Amino acid sequence: MPKSDIGLIGLGVMGRNLALNIESKGYSVTVYDREPDVTERFVSETAANRRISPAYSYKELVGSVSRPRKIMLMIKAGAPVDSVIDQLLPLLDNGDIIIDGGNSYYRDTDRRYDRVSELGLSYMGVGISGGEYGALNGPSIMPGGDEETYNSALKELLSAIAAQAEDGPCVTYIGPRSAGHYVKMVHNSIEYGVMQVIAEAYDVMRKVLGMSAGEISGTFAEWNQEQSSFLMEITAEVLDRADAETGQPLVDMILDTAGQKGTGKWGVQDAFDLGVAVPTISAAVEARIMSAIKSERMLVSSSFGRTGLRDYGIGAVRGAIEGATGCDASSLLRDLKDALYLSTVMAYAEGMKMLQVASREYGYGLRCHEIARIWKAGCIIRSSLLPRVQEAYLEDAGQVSLVTTRQFSGDFRRRTGGWRRAVMTALAHGVPVPAMSAALSHFDNLTSPFLSANLVQAQRDYFGAHTYQRVDRDGVFHTDWLKGR
Ligand code: 6PG
Repeated sequence: MPKSDIGLIGLGVMGRNLALNIESKGYSVTVYDREPDVTERFVSETAANRRISPAYSYKELVGSVSRPRKIMLMIKAGAPVDSVIDQLLPLLDNGDIIIDGGNSYYRDTDRRYDRVSELGLSYMGVGISGGEYGALNGPSIMPGGDEETYNSALKELLSAIAAQAEDGPCVTYIGPRSAGHYVKMVHNSIEYGVMQVIAEAYDVMRKVLGMSAGEISGTFAEWNQEQSSFLMEITAEVLDRADAETGQPLVDMILDTAGQKGTGKWGVQDAFDLGVAVPTISAAVEARIMSAIKSERMLVSSSFGRTGLRDYGIGAVRGAIEGATGCDASSLLRDLKDALYLSTVMAYAEGMKMLQVASREYGYGLRCHEIARIWKAGCIIRSSLLPRVQEAYLEDAGQVSLVTTRQFSGDFRRRTGGWRRAVMTALAHGVPVPAMSAALSHFDNLTSPFLSANLVQAQRDYFGAHTYQRVDRDGVFHTDWLKGR
């Protein structure tokens, strides 16, 4: 029996769709799932009449793939990956390649890379974005590991299955060791930020302007024509969907508690380690944490007399808003559009900055313009911003911030007024906009020649003799603050 081109472990929705995608590009695949029934059903039903064959043990899987073997793991990040590697290693030979296509923590990937490489095998940590649709029809792929292995064994296959942008397939060699999973972590961190700022715009529209889900859907759809993104597009669709049971907008029937699997949190933790400020992304992770403490929020909100949407003074307060801020509904919407747009750019700016610093610190040698290029299609953060991000990094790989680039600085100059007014109006009405306001403060910090840290440094010197520098001459100074009190 002829051997398969690749083995794939894990037939969850991503694994299944990736297997179908790979096969549709002319490769044969052997699939394995720890549930034999799942393997059996997939191969005999969805994958019937395709060059996809089943394996019911790791031994059978390894024996059925041509050498050097490519074995792709599409399983839950964390301990399951180590466990599968443990079981595969005794069965594999020199030169074989283990490919982890999940959302693994990049430090785990470094550890696994070392372990597998020492045994004479290759380990590739590959970020894959695009959800189930992308896996089937073309994801954005972020492969990290040895470049030689990528070029000789994976480039052709991954280029065939990736999403295709106008300037080529959405895959490129990212960098050594864990670089692929690192970049995927940053992709997801940006994803958290963008999702949160969209959700905040929605919240302002419903709580301050009293707009219905359908009206908000129409507004996002309209905004998306000007500045489009996948996340905005699906948001308009989500808001337009009615609940089959009640006929109400489905979004109104969904509990306001969002889950998270960790990539955004890891991103923020790593940004702290690198000393890179990511306030928009960090606020988005914190917003998910706040969403999860629903019972605490219910308790505290009722003790402050807030029990529902009406307590934001919808409608009745509309006149008062107009009086207080001098804005009407249509100018608030215009401002909100600016706030959403610039906050979104800040989320990308923070992520891109992380990539620049991580590239240096971790020796990844990242090419940021290439990363922007492969995010242009297939992935969750694809957006009409990305061609401009690509261009900005092509022009200057070491730029200080996207904010100052030719591609974006004009928008910041023109649209910050609306951003400020929208944030102020939200705050005045008690509508939390943590990511939009954090993004704005990030921008204000970045554009401030003087911050308040002179005072913080003086405080440090007062209680801990931590010394300070002066604005008027070089040197390190300390004041005996108690003397002469
Ligand atoms: C993607 C997504 C994908 C997944 C995230 C969701 O790029 O295709 O990011 O990887 O949907 O893991 O992350 P949370 O569960 O943490 O929201």
